Amino acid sequence: MTVFKTRRELQEFALAAKRQGKVIGLVPTMGYLHAGHTSLIDIARKRADIVIVSIFVNPTQFAPTEDLDRYPRDFERDLKLCTEHGADAIFAPEPGEMYFADASTWVQETMLSRPLCGASRPTFFRGVTTVVSKLFLLAQPDLAVFGLKDAQQLFVIRRMVRDLDFPVEIVAAPLVRDADGLALSSRNRYLSDDERRRALAIHHTLLECKSELLARGIAAAPEILAAGKAALAAAGGKVDYLEVLDSGDLEAVDGDTKEVLLAAAVFFGTTRLIDNELFEVSR
Ligand code: PAF
Repeated sequence: MTVFKTRRELQEFALAAKRQGKVIGLVPTMGYLHAGHTSLIDIARKRADIVIVSIFVNPTQFAPTEDLDRYPRDFERDLKLCTEHGADAIFAPEPGEMYFADASTWVQETMLSRPLCGASRPTFFRGVTTVVSKLFLLAQPDLAVFGLKDAQQLFVIRRMVRDLDFPVEIVAAPLVRDADGLALSSRNRYLSDDERRRALAIHHTLLECKSELLARGIAAAPEILAAGKAALAAAGGKVDYLEVLDSGDLEAVDGDTKEVLLAAAVFFGTTRLIDNELFEVSR
């Protein structure tokens, strides 16, 4: 497995592979890999001739008050996991390599990135779409795999790819949970044992809200979500949002809605965790 540190090396490698007719699969990550990430690598491995994993804690998607400096990193372990899961190359640039000091160009999606995480992290998706665009131009992937744990991110990237005609297939990978139901996230390592135990309320609450929405219909959503927020608060969580939206446009559910995204962001201590359920609902 090759490790590329510079944009030029990666792009030369990818363009040469393209000329040989190879199918390239990209798995963009911020490192500190867990079973959720390796499931994305496994999917790319099945579909592509060449699998590239990017490991880059992208500064432009963090607000100044967020956890950029303390975001967990363990490059040696990441390297081992990528090797075990059959990646061909890793792209691990330094921030100074990825962005020019006077960079002044952004790629921004302006509709799907507004609600949910976009409301509480207003510059987050602009950072994600900009870095993912750069990664697509550098790695030249035919397909790129993103996890449904970050469902809104996946929808925003799909929209960007559609709107800007990137020749990349976006592959959605199922959300991966620990045995007790906690959605896997690199940020779970910030949690104390007590916070981790209490954070299980997120998945429980989403399942409870989902079953209520399926039983009572979407018209009962305000009441169901209010009860859900109360349950999260009772578990010691500080709710950023608990919402149900049309998964197609991330707007309020209406007569045309086929599928909904029930999504939550909740702080336990200082750690903000997200989770979701995606399902069809009758009105
Ligand atoms: O989901 C992530 O880890 C990041 O947002 C991504 C897609 C790698 C962009 O930095």
